[in-house]
Amino acid sequence: MSTGEIQDIVVHTMIKEPLVIANWKSQSTTADATKWLSTVQASPTGIECVVAPPYTLLQTSTTALPKGWKLAAQDVSPFPLGAYTGAVAARQLANVGVTYCIVGHSERRRYFHETNQDVVNKCEQLLAEGIRPVVCIDQPYAKEQLALLASSHVASESIDVAYEPLSAIGTGQPADPSQEVAMIRWLKADWPESRVLYGGSVSAQNVGDYLLIADGVLIATASLDPVSMNAILLQASASAIIAD
Ligand code: PGA
Repeated sequence: MSTGEIQDIVVHTMIKEPLVIANWKSQSTTADATKWLSTVQASPTGIECVVAPPYTLLQTSTTALPKGWKLAAQDVSPFPLGAYTGAVAARQLANVGVTYCIVGHSERRRYFHETNQDVVNKCEQLLAEGIRPVVCIDQPYAKEQLALLASSHVASESIDVAYEPLSAIGTGQPADPSQEVAMIRWLKADWPESRVLYGGSVSAQNVGDYLLIADGVLIATASLDPVSMNAILLQASASAIIAD
């Protein structure tokens, strides 16, 4: 699909500053992180850049973030500080400079049996500490998840939503942007004050297309290599300039 064709179906014009999140998942050692943090470029003007290292690398990352970058965690405890062995509380994340947190990623649901209620509880813990949740959504649980969030104390303006089709996550087979417009439009209508991100096999080749239909992107595989991350940022900046 050409950029011109996608521009015909553009649904995103309202939010000027797209959010680009690099999610390292359970990967990277201290050496990998140090190389990444010293190679990746400063956050380009007009784009909000966020990196989500594993817990073990948050401290290393917080002191060496490239200029303008913000720090995210990939998960959080649904409980406050206390006797919850193995869990990391929102207060502890805030304490190392975390300002965003991914919540309800499909891998958390699949491998750790995380529920919609867990996601709500985690959002509440994060918001109490001033950390902005990025709630991951896909079918078949999207509708129930969003309804539960809407009926909780989690306000629309206090979260961002990442739509990540399962078939596109880590497969190298991104969803066709033109096929995802309806879903993104639906999410934006329900959560008008949240940014709606797209995630799933985003790369330097397709990031520009997704930024035309969504308010940002959540990237894992292609974000791990700092050179590839820089290429993504180059394309994302070009598309942010076009959108202006
Ligand atoms: P991917 O993963 O970029 O490797 O497809 C996206 C995600 O899981 O957030």
